[in-house]
Amino acid sequence: MNEALWVLGRATGVSTLVMLTVATALGVVMSGGFRHRELPRFALAEIHRRASLLATGLLVVHVLSLWLDAEAQLDAVDLLVPFLNARNPLWWGLGTLALDLLLIVVVSSLLRKRLPHAVWRGLHLLAYASWPFAVLHSVGGGTDSATWWVRLTAITCCAVVGGAVGYRLVRRSGSRLVHRSGSRLGRTLPPTGRPVSAKSAPAANPAPAAATTTATVQEYPS
Ligand code: HEM
Repeated sequence: MNEALWVLGRATGVSTLVMLTVATALGVVMSGGFRHRELPRFALAEIHRRASLLATGLLVVHVLSLWLDAEAQLDAVDLLVPFLNARNPLWWGLGTLALDLLLIVVVSSLLRKRLPHAVWRGLHLLAYASWPFAVLHSVGGGTDSATWWVRLTAITCCAVVGGAVGYRLVRRSGSRLVHRSGSRLGRTLPPTGRPVSAKSAPAANPAPAAATTTATVQEYPS
C-alpha cells in the first residue's frame, strides 16, 4: 500500500507542476493581450481555468497520498503550515507555501463575483508567486528530483513560463512606444476629435516611422 501511495504521490506531484505551468503561462500571455485568430480569448480563458482546476485536484491527491504514506512522515499540520516538518523543512515547506498561495487564489476566484475587482485581481496575482515555489519544491523535495526526467520537466516548465513572461514584456514595451508616439501626434494636430494616424500627420511635424496606430486629440489633449 505504501509503495502505491508513494508512486501516486510522485506522479501527481509532477503532473501538478505541469498543469500549474500551463495555467500560469496562459494567465501571463492572456493578461499581456495575446491575440490569435484560431484561439479566441474566451477559449484561452477556458483552458486557463480548467488547467488551474486540474492542477488543484492533482495537488489535493499529491498531498493526501503522501500524507497517508507513513514513510513520508508528513503531519497534518505540514499540509498547511510551511517549514515545520522535521524531515525536510525547507523543500517540503516550499511546497506547502505554494499550496497556501494557490488556496488563496482558488478561494478568491470562487468568490470573484462577490469581491471588488481590485481585491480579486490583487489576490489572483499570488498565483505568480506560487509557481516558483512549486518549481523549487519539485527540484529539491522528491526522491526523483535529481533524475534527468524531473530536471527536464522542471527546465521545460521554466522555459514555458519564461517565454510567456518574455512575450508579455515585449508586448508591453511595444504598446508603450505606440502610446508615446500617439501622444506626440495628438499634441501636433488640431482638435478635430477625429482619429488620426501617422500617414495623415502634417509633413511639418513628421511622426515616427513606427507609429501606425490611431489616436484622437480628445484622448491625448495638447
Ligand atoms: C503546487 C504545489 C506542489 C507541487 C507542484 C508539487 C510537486 C512535487 C514534485 C514534482 C515532487 C517530486 C516527485 C518525485 O520525486 O518524483 C514532489 C515531492 C514531494 N512533495 Fe510536493 N508538490 C506541491 C506541494 C506539496 C505540498 C503542499 C506538500 C506537503 C507538505 C508536498 C509534499 C511532497 C513530498 C513529501 C514529496 C516527496 C515525495 C517523495 O518521497 O518522493 N508537496 N512534489
